[in-house]
Amino acid sequence: MKFTQTEGKNRTDRQKVIGKATPRIEGALKATGKATYAYEWHDIAPKPAFGYVLGAAIAKGRITSMDTSGAESSAGVLAVVTAENAGPLDKGNFNVVKLLAGPEIQHYHQAIAVIVARTFEEARAGATKIKVRYASEPGVYDLEVAKETAVKPPARWGNEPDSAAGDFAGAFAAAPFKIDATYHTPAHSHAMMEPFASIAAWKGDELTVWTANQMIAWSRADLAKTLKMPPEKVRVVSPYVGGGFGGKLWIRADVLLAALGARAAKRPVKVALPRPMMANNTVHRPATIQRVRLGAGKDGKITAFAHENWAGNQKGGSTETATLASRALYAGANRMTSNRNATLDLPEGNAMRAPGDAPGSMAFEIAIDEIAEKVGLDPVEFRVINDTQVNPEKPAQTYSTRKLIQCLKTGAEKFGWSKRNAKPGAVRDGNWLVGLGVATAYRGAPTMNSGARVRIESSGRVIVETDMTDIGTGSYTIIGQTAAEMMGVPLDRVDVRLGDSNFPVSAGSGGQFGAVSATSGVYAACLKLREAIATKLGVAADTLEIDDGFAVAGSKRVALGEVAGTEGLSAEDKIEFATDREKHLHYTFGAHFVEVGVHAITSEVRVRRMLAVCHAGRILNPPAARNQIIGAMTMGVGAALMEELVVDKKVGFFVNHDLASYEVPVHADIPHQECVFLDDEDPTVSPMKALGVGELGICGVSAAVANAVYNATGKRVRDYPITIDKLMRT
Ligand code: MOS
Repeated sequence: MKFTQTEGKNRTDRQKVIGKATPRIEGALKATGKATYAYEWHDIAPKPAFGYVLGAAIAKGRITSMDTSGAESSAGVLAVVTAENAGPLDKGNFNVVKLLAGPEIQHYHQAIAVIVARTFEEARAGATKIKVRYASEPGVYDLEVAKETAVKPPARWGNEPDSAAGDFAGAFAAAPFKIDATYHTPAHSHAMMEPFASIAAWKGDELTVWTANQMIAWSRADLAKTLKMPPEKVRVVSPYVGGGFGGKLWIRADVLLAALGARAAKRPVKVALPRPMMANNTVHRPATIQRVRLGAGKDGKITAFAHENWAGNQKGGSTETATLASRALYAGANRMTSNRNATLDLPEGNAMRAPGDAPGSMAFEIAIDEIAEKVGLDPVEFRVINDTQVNPEKPAQTYSTRKLIQCLKTGAEKFGWSKRNAKPGAVRDGNWLVGLGVATAYRGAPTMNSGARVRIESSGRVIVETDMTDIGTGSYTIIGQTAAEMMGVPLDRVDVRLGDSNFPVSAGSGGQFGAVSATSGVYAACLKLREAIATKLGVAADTLEIDDGFAVAGSKRVALGEVAGTEGLSAEDKIEFATDREKHLHYTFGAHFVEVGVHAITSEVRVRRMLAVCHAGRILNPPAARNQIIGAMTMGVGAALMEELVVDKKVGFFVNHDLASYEVPVHADIPHQECVFLDDEDPTVSPMKALGVGELGICGVSAAVANAVYNATGKRVRDYPITIDKLMRT
């Protein structure tokens, strides 16, 4: 079905199942270890061999010689696959071009071989016997240096890199209050729990991979293209995924090398990237340098606004578009933004939870705190008076729903913001300096076309099949809820099957579009199935009611299983979004409030309290949505206080490439967290009237922490993460 602006009242409005607090329907499987993740899928590919990935030991240059004979004769080794003997690969696609290198090396730990052996240990031992000689070339690893030669990148997802309106330079020069500050955000690692892992098995010329991936259709297409196979001959299966955060949007070395290894060894092969390989072999969130200039009048209104961003990537890689979030966030007639991309020889940068907007808000929402203080306004009040209901760059474009002011005011009330002392360093609790900070959360709510197949069996059970993935987000449950609501059955009569390229192509998990899009696809398929039921009963579809498993129309009341008959009854459809993006901006909003304590002597920072108030349309499953926000807040604390992939600027790699040295928050770092949703619906975005939540929660959190640290200490750190040494230096 085509969705155009509004579906009006529909069956999801009943909210008998949708919108109700619902535990994960696959939760018991996961808690009891019965949900099989890619690396443990034993029964499907019995007795697989093990592939060990060898990574390049230089960051840039060439392999001059590679002697694999030692590995080939090593105990248990079945095959060694390199670029030399892998067979022809189509490397025309940037996302897969680098998954098997040789002779050119583009980044450190880029895969140069997979060693296949009977056991993991034998494969690893074999890898140590490969002799590689390199001719290393100098590379550029320092963004501060590369920035000087950064260029304007092409538009991405329809967003031009630059924007301008009014006269920024004139307005900035004339502004009575102004700030001009530069901020640094480092590279971040996705650090998801489940590593990149795959099993590949060939049957003749057909390939099946069990992998950990967010976008099944993209993976199938990329694998088929790279291996020069028709897509129908490639099956991708990924029913359970232990986190992705964007790192698993595209295929990585594990799955391609498992496929090549399995072809060479003539048996199924499983490959997992060991944790210490992940940071440099795969992808990361690129570092940014951002300059923000803001001018404001005596009334506190923003009169001049400029946000410039510099990021870097491998040649051909995308830009970390950190200015998108701020472009339309606050009012003001005179404005400019720009994004510049530099070429770096570090591993590939790519999407990580709220790409662009997460680092963008880390800088920009500190800048707002700085200008509010200059003007002498409370930072909540400053944001309220600079709210806009239209895109300030294109005033004809309105927000579908924008309730930032309600988020800020509700949060301020609940958090006790009025007790904040505006004077930095003024509140002390024993040896702890205490501060409060606030920031806006803001993230686009896109939709993607999404398909599903729904079937009623003679037992009356409803089966939903779609290639949508559940990366820990709760897709199984909200898809089940949607089918239960639409088909008039209790949730425990619905079976949800996900993550298989044999199922209809869905939106997949990314860009916080997954929940809204995939459920809308199920909605469309359910509407079709209801029509099929009505036809079978010989009644008009709009007179059909289904409740508690019985179809009712006029004097007829028939159990769904009976309507379906022994053959069952099924329907397939997809939602095609035709929302008018020119007219409406679909965005989610929130306000983050943070209380920190900073030790007066050691400068240790402890987050003491956090609150997020979010607006994201209809909330399909409140505990799952809350879980997304809480997780994202935790990730934001990591970005504020500890996370940084440290670049060795001489050798060109991320030094702290394991979880012993790449620090992420643990339970003890995280205090009381609260998340409140404004109850609402957005009828113009989708028939589900929901927006997305997965990425909203991280945007702004780190700045709220930084602003709280400033309020506690009077120390303004503009270089993340805010570590003890920086606080002591400031
Ligand atoms: Mo997301 S960073 O598009 O998985």
